[in-house]
Amino acid sequence: MCGIVGYVGGKSAQDVVIEGLRRLEYRGYDSAGIALIDGDRVVSDKRAGKLANLEKAIADQPLPAATTGIGHTRWATHGAPNDANAHPHLGQERQVAVVHNGILENFVALRAELEAEGIDMLSETDTEVAAHLLEREVRAGHDLTEAMQRVCRRLEGAFTLVAVDAKDPSRVVAARRNSPLVVGLGEGENFLGSDVAAFIEHTREAMELDQDQVVTITRDGVSVTGFDGSPAEGRRYHVDWDLSAAEKDGHDWFMRKEIFEQPHAVADSLLGRRTPEGLLQLDEMRLSDQDLRDIDKIIIIAAGTSFYAGMVAKYAIEHWCRIPVEVELASEFRYRDPILTTETLVVAISQSGETADTLQAIRHARVQRSKVLAICNTNGSTIPRESDGVIYTHAGPEIGVASTKGFLTQLVACYLLALYLAQVKGTRFGDEIGQVMDQLDEMPGHIETVLGKAEEIYELARAHVGSRSVLFLGRHAGYPVALEGALKLKELAYIHAEGFAAGELKHGPIALIEEGLPVLCVVPPRGRDQLHSKMISGIQEVRARGARTLCLAEEGDDTVARYADVLITLPQVPVLLQPLVAAVPLQLFACELATQLGHDVDQPRNLAKSVTVE
Ligand code: F6R
Repeated sequence: MCGIVGYVGGKSAQDVVIEGLRRLEYRGYDSAGIALIDGDRVVSDKRAGKLANLEKAIADQPLPAATTGIGHTRWATHGAPNDANAHPHLGQERQVAVVHNGILENFVALRAELEAEGIDMLSETDTEVAAHLLEREVRAGHDLTEAMQRVCRRLEGAFTLVAVDAKDPSRVVAARRNSPLVVGLGEGENFLGSDVAAFIEHTREAMELDQDQVVTITRDGVSVTGFDGSPAEGRRYHVDWDLSAAEKDGHDWFMRKEIFEQPHAVADSLLGRRTPEGLLQLDEMRLSDQDLRDIDKIIIIAAGTSFYAGMVAKYAIEHWCRIPVEVELASEFRYRDPILTTETLVVAISQSGETADTLQAIRHARVQRSKVLAICNTNGSTIPRESDGVIYTHAGPEIGVASTKGFLTQLVACYLLALYLAQVKGTRFGDEIGQVMDQLDEMPGHIETVLGKAEEIYELARAHVGSRSVLFLGRHAGYPVALEGALKLKELAYIHAEGFAAGELKHGPIALIEEGLPVLCVVPPRGRDQLHSKMISGIQEVRARGARTLCLAEEGDDTVARYADVLITLPQVPVLLQPLVAAVPLQLFACELATQLGHDVDQPRNLAKSVTVE
């Protein structure tokens, strides 16, 4: 949510900043802006709309050459997405420029204080107060680093701030609290970014910071302090993916590329999880086996697509481990009064590791002394850092705003967690762990098979370009898949879509069925007879009322074939693992339908990739 870039070095700061913003645009695309230091003045440009608008403005009216600069791509919180509210914001004397990600919760009081001093606010944003406060400090004689420390001590809320001072082009200064910021370490140049994609073209050496730290970058150095000015250290690490992971690689959309990367992402997330003796190992887990044996309840918290992965996890954990599992939306969990004990394991699922709702929920859980385990795709992000343990997924960077490979690898991590718990708890299911691991190892091949049907699915999507509403039905582990399919369609194609548990239809939603309404049915494998036949009844019920049934069912399922207007076959896999193959056609369906409708698939309206505000 908002992308931030900072640069100081020997290259064109404009080029580095604009390129960085391009790679971060998935984080927000309501407006974009840049500020450069030219001699001893700040020059800036900022425009509502996508980065392309800013680029056009700069092409029409070029900015001067400069080697120090900052930039921002915005997801609006305070103030409409217009030019005035776009970042950077400047102090009244135009000496300091600042960009911001997050929300300054005490900005109303600070704004009143500044206005009482005669400062005219030019925007409706919370950010502008930071610009004026910083400028006031530097004009009082503090260098920009001290100014940042002093201002941060007064700010409440979540923020990453990156600032430049026209009188000191040698440095860019940033600060973070509850909002992402990484440092890129180059030779004779250094970078700041909301994530490493901002500078991966220039360096793969990075540094992560703790909460409440200020970092100063110059051409030749990086120094870190606390908000109180005390010296601190960042943690250096090597980024193990390269630029190609942040490129579209011949695809029209990042999302489509990421859908096709799923066999790899799943295989990578399974890699190295078994000892030579065939036991499951989860290296980064950090929770002891004894901690896990003591657990008597699990609460999974997440948002959006990650929440649906959590719903699948409930089916797997309860079946394999016989531990009760609750799944709850992070935003709801945080503000009620959940019953947590030291024997409760809270599992937080978050692709980005930065989602504010989920972050606040884990803090709430830790205060009550529950253990927290994160499932996360982003190394060094806040949620795993604040958790007692982590299972990293290895999807690589996910740039399309709608999660795809992030979701499938979360499912893998959930299965691994369930199997690991079964192993340490020694449940009666224990003997079958190796067998399920073998089945998981076959999943990349099965996903590949589904991807081989892409054309068939695209055709189906094209046939539904005129649809105003699509319903999704599923049962058991197929129910969260139905919800996920509906979410994908809503967020990409802006078509009304709803997912239902097939058994619930007759309790109300069946009233929605009318002649020709497309109903996408995720049919469970036949192995569980009851489940399968109940789903078939649901399909018959909607068909009898005129719905057009689009069915996903396993290869060889002749019963479904009789009731399906359209049948897409899936490889034969166990019911608990079926989400790994059943979600893929739904992703392709939504991606193609949105493409046909002329929507921006990678950057759907009103959305942002990591939602760092509650
Ligand atoms: C939908 C989607 C979102 C995210 C949700 C949580 O396609 O991507 O629903 O799943 O915002 O994000 P993370 O997993 O980063 O916490």
